[in-house]
Amino acid sequence: MSDNNREYSNEEITVFWKPDLCIHSEVCFRSLPRVFNPKRRPWVKVEAAETSKIIEVVDKCPAGALSYKNKNDIDENKPSDENQTKIKISKDGPAIITGNFKIINIDGSELNISGKSALCRCGASKKMPFCDGSHREINFKG
Ligand code: FES
Repeated sequence: MSDNNREYSNEEITVFWKPDLCIHSEVCFRSLPRVFNPKRRPWVKVEAAETSKIIEVVDKCPAGALSYKNKNDIDENKPSDENQTKIKISKDGPAIITGNFKIINIDGSELNISGKSALCRCGASKKMPFCDGSHREINFKG
C-alpha cells in the first residue's frame, strides 16, 4: 500500500485514509462536508462532528478507502461470521471485497488487505487491480 496513507484521531476513534483505494464516489464529503473536505488540508477533520456520525459516513465508503478503528475495539471479540470475507458485485461498477485477504499480483508481489477494497471489473482502471472510478467515464455496464 501507499505511503500516502493517513490517520486522523479524536479521543474515541482513528479514521484511516487509503488514497490508493479511493474510487471517488464522493459519498464522504457529500454526506459530511464539515469533516471530509477535499479542498482543505488536512482534508479529514475528526473533531468537526460527533464520532457516531463520522462512523456512519465511513461505513458508507464503498471502496474501503476510509475505515476506522474504535479505540476500545478488540477485533478478537467479533463473531466469526463477521470475519468472513465477502464479495459484493456493484451494478456497473467494481467488486467490493470486505474482509481479510491477499492479492497476488502478476509480478508475484503480494498485498495484504484488511477491511474493504474495490477491485476493477471494467478493465479501464489506471490503478489495477483496484477501481479508480474510471468505470463511470467509459459507461461500463455489467
Ligand atoms: S470498475 Fe471501476 S475502474 Fe473498473
